[in-house]
Amino acid sequence: MRATAKAHTNIALIKYWGKRNEELILPTNSSLSVTLDGFYTETTVHFKEELERDSFMLNGTEITDVAYDRVTNYLQLFRTYAGREGLFAEVHSTNKVPTAAGFASSASGFAALAAATANALQLDLDYTALSRFTRQGSGSACRSIYGGFVQWEMGQLDDGSDSYAIPVAPQNHWDLRVAAVVLTAKEKDVSSRVGMKRTVDTSVFYDGWLESLPKDLSEMKDGIAAKDFEKVGGIAEANCLKMHATTLGAIPPFTYWQDTTMSVMETVQQLRKDGIPAYFTIDAGPNVKVLYQPEDEAKVLQQLEATNGVTEVIVSKVGEGISYL
Ligand code: DP6
Repeated sequence: MRATAKAHTNIALIKYWGKRNEELILPTNSSLSVTLDGFYTETTVHFKEELERDSFMLNGTEITDVAYDRVTNYLQLFRTYAGREGLFAEVHSTNKVPTAAGFASSASGFAALAAATANALQLDLDYTALSRFTRQGSGSACRSIYGGFVQWEMGQLDDGSDSYAIPVAPQNHWDLRVAAVVLTAKEKDVSSRVGMKRTVDTSVFYDGWLESLPKDLSEMKDGIAAKDFEKVGGIAEANCLKMHATTLGAIPPFTYWQDTTMSVMETVQQLRKDGIPAYFTIDAGPNVKVLYQPEDEAKVLQQLEATNGVTEVIVSKVGEGISYL
């Protein structure tokens, strides 16, 4: 009753931003991401008959706060499914995220936890079922089951059975690069969970965002199939800007951007003016990820590293899906 799994994080090119069911984590739109090889989590789950409660160690430290509650509530889903109420586990997770990067991601965390838990309980779930389980830990995590380019199909059903990830193109389809740009930034004070709920509930721009998504998604998939870098980058950047625009229309309004975020955005726009195709995307925080092609790496990294407020630039290639160790 012990298993270890590894999962990589992912960056959305078409963002998930809003839930239609908060408990089951069902989204208001389909999203699409690329899995990154640079950031991953390894998790061991060990169920033992003699334990009286779950325990959770993260990077060697025992966790007892809300992150523990989230893990133990999540394990409960599997216990219920497996008919193993009262069977507790020791969970050991290691986040392979470069130190101080501020990129700790729930995506790789919940994907690795789901895979290890399912295996430890010998549940024999296929990737679709595993992705459904992963979604209930953190929405974006369901896309990290697969490598390469991955769509999270929003689904229509109330029970969430048709809301899961599907592979769009494998890891070896296209050799893209994503630079994670680490900034001297404060901790974000609005989590993605709180931010998306406030946006859905109050933003005057939310309907416009939703209306624009089917076209973005279908053009993005055409761009990926054709390996049309400027099309993919252009749609990703515009989709990210639209998502962030919705936060400005919320009540109270908020933004994840800081001055350093905008400096990196300007650097990317300047690279394009200089003839180098590079595009940015930003999640629910100040850090920026930059998409570029391998042949432009030296120039892109040089400009990013020279930008005010940048402390580190970490390069990822397209990553693989979950694996068992
Ligand atoms: C901006 O998956 O972290 O990164 O489902 O509430 O756990 P919960 O949210 P989460 O939100 C990610 C939002 C995003 C866009 C994306 O990854 O698609």
